[in-house]
Amino acid sequence: MKSKALINLLSDGDVHSGEFLAAQLGVSRTAVWKQVRRAMDEGVKIETIRGRGYQLLSSVDLLDRDAILADVDNGYRSALSLVVLDEVDSTNAEVLRQVADGVSGVPVAIADCQTAGRGRRGRVWSSPRGQNLYLSIGLTFHGGFSVLDGLSLVLGVAVANALETLGASDIGLKWPNDIFLPSGKLGGILIELQGELQEGVVQVIAGIGINVHMAEAEEVDQPWSSLGNASPGIDWSRNAIAGNIITAVLDAAHQFSENGFPDFHAPWQRRDIFAGMPLEARNGELHGTGEGIDEAGNYLLRTEQGVVPVRAGEISLRVVQ
Ligand code: BTN
Repeated sequence: MKSKALINLLSDGDVHSGEFLAAQLGVSRTAVWKQVRRAMDEGVKIETIRGRGYQLLSSVDLLDRDAILADVDNGYRSALSLVVLDEVDSTNAEVLRQVADGVSGVPVAIADCQTAGRGRRGRVWSSPRGQNLYLSIGLTFHGGFSVLDGLSLVLGVAVANALETLGASDIGLKWPNDIFLPSGKLGGILIELQGELQEGVVQVIAGIGINVHMAEAEEVDQPWSSLGNASPGIDWSRNAIAGNIITAVLDAAHQFSENGFPDFHAPWQRRDIFAGMPLEARNGELHGTGEGIDEAGNYLLRTEQGVVPVRAGEISLRVVQ
């Protein structure tokens, strides 16, 4: 957000004169007024009080690199190459660029808004400014692509745990890795692989989108929810959410590298929102009841012919209406 310094000055909720703000920011009063207008255009609620100055009407959850790092586990902090951007096409694309440029450390990109946010299956990920978390992390694995089986489920468990640590409740997972609340989709994970594979080294970009403050989204075509809607009593901070998710994802990636998927089987299963539901897959060719996942992370359908595994990436599962 371009008017971040101005909003910081207003964040105490008091009325501040244009003169005071101009002196603090080292700009003219006209420049202050322009920044106020820009912030208002970006959705920040500021009241202009004639003869007195400006007042912030609602709190703004600004992204702050130091605040994010303060919530990352000590052991990871110095290894991160973290960029916090005002705007980007896609944080996944940003991390891919960093990897291609040979970034050192674990690349992480977070943005206040995305102009070309990507969802799974080529969908657009709605990414309004200042509302939600858009975060991507570059992860390196050794042993070729086959070691990645189950990774998307592992990351779902990590994100769900991080959100519950911060006070969210009833976080469910929809196979393979959508983050759900009982009221609708709360977030999603998009895993992209970097094309090159050298001596078994696999570079994964894990993009995580979580609806935090979003209160309306006309362009989203499925039931959705946000942390703010579901738990309005919590003062949700995107910095704290980001720091906790980064730590949880890096912890999970290490554990997954060491022990594989079995450690995550039961934790995923506990959060399965499809368990016991009537489901269809393969464009309606396969009908059954949700039976959880197998040891490789495939989803199991109990059908009239027995239990059938559904492979990740093969088809999408949906509840029969
Ligand atoms: C889904 O379709 O459920 C996955 C959505 C993933 C969205 C996140 S937001 C941060 C990262 N950057 C992107 O362009 N997409 C992912």
